[in-house]
This record gives sequence, C-alpha cells and structure tokens, in this order.
Amino acid sequence: MASVTSLTDLVNQQLESAVSATRPEATADPLLRRSDRADFQANGILALAKKSKANPRELATEVVAHITTGDDLIKDIEVSGPGFLNITVADRAITGNLAARHADGERLGVPLKENPGVTVVDYAQPNVAKEMHVGHLRSAVIGDALRSMLDFTGEKTIGRHHIGDWGTQFGMLIQYLFEHPGELAPAEDVDGEQAMSNLNRVYKASRAVFDADEEFKERARKRVVALQSGDKETLELWQRFVDESKVYFYSVFEKLDMEIRDEEIVGESAYNEGMPETARLLEETGVAVRSEGALVVFFDDIRGKDDQPVPLIVQKADGGFGYAASDLTAIRNRVLDLHASTLLYVVDVRQSLHFKMVFETARRAGWLGDDVTAHNMGYGTVLGADGKPFKTRAGETVRLEDLLDEAVDRAAEVVREKARDLTEEEIRERAAQVGIGAVKYADLSTSPNRDYKFDLDQMVSLNGDTSVYLQYAYARIQSILRKAGEVRPAAHPELELHEAERALGLHLDAFGDTVFEAAAEYAPHRLAAYLYQLASLYTTFYDKCPVLKADSPEQVENRLFLCDLTARTLHRGMALLGIRTPERL
Ligand code: ARG
Repeated sequence: MASVTSLTDLVNQQLESAVSATRPEATADPLLRRSDRADFQANGILALAKKSKANPRELATEVVAHITTGDDLIKDIEVSGPGFLNITVADRAITGNLAARHADGERLGVPLKENPGVTVVDYAQPNVAKEMHVGHLRSAVIGDALRSMLDFTGEKTIGRHHIGDWGTQFGMLIQYLFEHPGELAPAEDVDGEQAMSNLNRVYKASRAVFDADEEFKERARKRVVALQSGDKETLELWQRFVDESKVYFYSVFEKLDMEIRDEEIVGESAYNEGMPETARLLEETGVAVRSEGALVVFFDDIRGKDDQPVPLIVQKADGGFGYAASDLTAIRNRVLDLHASTLLYVVDVRQSLHFKMVFETARRAGWLGDDVTAHNMGYGTVLGADGKPFKTRAGETVRLEDLLDEAVDRAAEVVREKARDLTEEEIRERAAQVGIGAVKYADLSTSPNRDYKFDLDQMVSLNGDTSVYLQYAYARIQSILRKAGEVRPAAHPELELHEAERALGLHLDAFGDTVFEAAAEYAPHRLAAYLYQLASLYTTFYDKCPVLKADSPEQVENRLFLCDLTARTLHRGMALLGIRTPERL
C-alpha cells in the first residue's frame, strides 16, 4: 500500500517553501483552491503582504521567482489581480499522480491518519417493542456513512446502538405477558414482520387492560420495581420483548443493506447497574443537588418559561432513573473503558438540549476532559411532499419497512424500463440496490442538520443529483471496459491532456482530501456533492473525448485508465455512503 500526496498538497508545499524563502520569518497559508482561470488559485499572499506591510503584487512576484516550473509539477504560475497566484499543473504530473492512485488498489492512494483517535458513534437506536420510523432511518443512514468515512481515514470507530430497552413502559408489557404467557411467539419462530405485529398486538392489548383496570395498573407498577431490582422471572419476560424486537430491527437493517453487530447493540438497560453510582458521584461532588426529592443538575444558561431554570433530572423523587442517567453512565463507560477520544451522537436535533445538559454535566463531573470531544450530530426532520413532517394520508407515522418497500418497487420500474435484457430476478436485485441507494442518497446529500422532503419520484430519477444517476455513470463505465476487451487501461503520462481530461483528473486526485474534510466535519453531503460532480465531469469527458475510438493506442489506454479510475473512485465513495454500485443496470 502506497499512499499518494495530492496535487493540492504538493503545490501547497512548494508555495510554502517559496514563501519562507522570500520571507524567512513568515509563515503563510497559501489558501489554495481550485479555480476557473487556472487549475488552482492561491490567495494567501494578500494576508501575508498585509502582515509584513509589503506591496502584495511585488511580494507575489518575489514568491513566484522562487518556484521552479516545468513538467514535474507546476507548469505555469503567474501573478494576477491584486496579488493572486494562478497556477497550472503539468499534464504529466496529473497523470502520474493518478497512475499512483490506480496502482494502490482499494485505497486509491489515500493515506491513513497519523494519529487516529477512537470515536464512539451512537447511531441507529430504535426502541424495543416499538415500530421504527423515518427518524430512526436518518440516524442509521447518517451514522453508518459517517462511521465508514471515519474508518477510511484510519480513525478507530466503535458503534453503540443505544436502543430504548428500559424504563417504566416495560412494567405494563411484562405484567401482561406474565398474565397471558402464550401471547408472544418465541423470537426464533418469527420473521421481522411477524415479530413487529406480535409486539403491536401485545402492546395494544396490554394498553387496553392498563387503561381499564386499576388493579392491573397497580400490578404493572410493582412490575417496574421488580424489573429495576433485577427479579429473575421479570427479567426473563423482559428479555423476550428485547429478543422479539431484535428480530424486527435486524430485518429492517437488512432491508437497509446495513450491517449491525450484535455486540454493539448496547441499550439503556446495559447502564442500569452503573446508574446508582453515577448519581452518587454527582451528588458527592456537588454537581447534582437534591430538589424536591429529585437529584438534578442546574445550568445558568438553560432556562424555560418565566425564566425558570430547567434542570437535568438524574434521579426522580421516587428513586427511578431515566434517560439522562443512562446517557451519563454510558459516557463514563465510553471514555473510561472504551478510551474514546470523541463521542459522536447521531440523534434527532430535537434532543440537542438533552445532550447539551448531559455533556455539560459530564464535564463538571470530570468524565469528559479537555482531551475528549462530544458532539451531537443533530439531524433534521423528514418532511412529506406537503412540507410537513412525513405522515401517511391517515395522519399516522409511516412504517419504515413500507417506505423502503415502496422505494424498491419504484426503482424496479426504472430498472425494468432501461434494461431489457435482465431476468426478473436480476431486476429485483438491482431494484433493491437502486431503491435503497436512492433513499440513502437523498438523505445523505443534504446537510444532516437540515430537513428534507421525502419525494420518491425525485429520488429514483435518472437526471439530477440522485444515486441512480451515479449508479448509471458507474455501470456505463463498466460497459465501456467490457467493450474494450483485450485492451487494458494503462496510464501514459507523456500524453497531453484534453481540457475535459484535466478537469476530471484534478477532481479524481482530490478524492482523499475530500473524504478527510467531510469526515472531520461530519458532513457526508460533501462527499455526495463530490461524487455528483465526479459523475458530471466524467459525462463531459465522455462527450468530448472518444475513448475506444481515440487517435492512438496509447490514447485509448490512457482514456480507459481514466474511465477505470473514475469507476473505482465512484465505487469507493458510494460504498462509504453505504450505497451499492451494480456492474450492469
Ligand atoms: N432511542 C432514542 C430514540 O428513539 C434515541 C437514543 C439516542 N442515543 C442516546 N445515547 N440517547 O429517541
């Protein structure tokens, strides 16, 4: 494995050394970016000139004098405007860099981080005995993509699916099952759909008794106490709800084409034993105080109605622990036992106040030190076509499986129309990859903190910023490579490049830089935008530059090489977003 330094970094290095040759005492960020006028423009000289009270154009001219131009890297550099540098890179350097990426296999020359940390990613956290909804979809899709991106940079990630598997709501369910033991079929006998319908039935039935029968209500309340004190029989019944739910969760994650590891499903219940200690430590250190019997934490800057402080409740007056206590205990575990340097929570933005309070409490308690970053990647709401939170026509929340099935059905129509030589089975398989890809891409291509409209027609469209468009670009390249037969892709750095080849090449070279930036900013949409632009640049290249009918055999090979590297970059980038790239469509 040989990593490749991007052209951007190489040019930057040259500029930095030219700057320090000109002004040995100064350091300056050249502020290099891609430009329409040349390949790159550097604007950093302006700030440097201001600092050293020099004339910017003169300073720029001095810097340029320290740069060797030629075929190796910088072909041409000139001063423009008030003191910008316009830089053109040599064709040979572009092709040479891409050849090194092509030779590096799966990693495409992208280096690994020098000092990787440990990021615990809290994502895909549905609730036991409840249907999953579109909010859970977002957490799963965004979390999975961020995790792959971080892994690719060399960061070590640990997943935590903080499922809602604990709390007072289980009293009613367990008591009902205790009184009607046959109502829940064993988890090993059901599929995902049956599991959820069983759970729904038990939920409704127990709710009805709970609402109608005061004595049952009392028995359910006692059951909560039994659960919290670890009563064996109660825990066994509780476990049956968890197991049944997991069958359902796994079926949805499978539909989502997402791998979830059992050992990373560590729900609220896992922190049950640690919660009393969490409370004790907070109380002893004075971080939490008793208020009307409850143990709470106050914050100066968090106030509600009438300017009353809104506290974080660690322990209720009746002694029960809730959501905050489990999250605080989880932080202790993730920092002290898992040695996390970063805690990332992919959770609905509506819980951002909760996390603000939890993080601040953990900081005061010393569990989150200066060396640990905690971040809530709060995502926005999925909206229906009417711009309101996504609901069925009857006003109910949409079942996630129904929505995914519908996406796959729509995708099947698109696939069927295009590909006439596919068998029905192939169509179904492609449709799953296209439909699920479309749902994921629509989610990931908008900034996570924004709301977006769930519009299936738009999502499976072949035109525009969709995964289908990217998948077609990939499949089209594969078909060209197949047509090339015996002729293999090969780089020829001696060839002069067409403008469209240069644009494509420079973009291909920026893949690693883009993934690093997008991962650091928790911004999968930046990677999506990169891939969309890659497909567009490829389309322009393909329109302007004949591949199999190019002028010389070297030209054919070199263009096939550009095609192949584009395909591999698309494939890798899409995989990081959790999206498949079928070989044929
Ligand atoms: N189960 C919760 C819900 O559905 C999300 C859990 C988020 N993670 C956490 N550590 N609190 O709203």
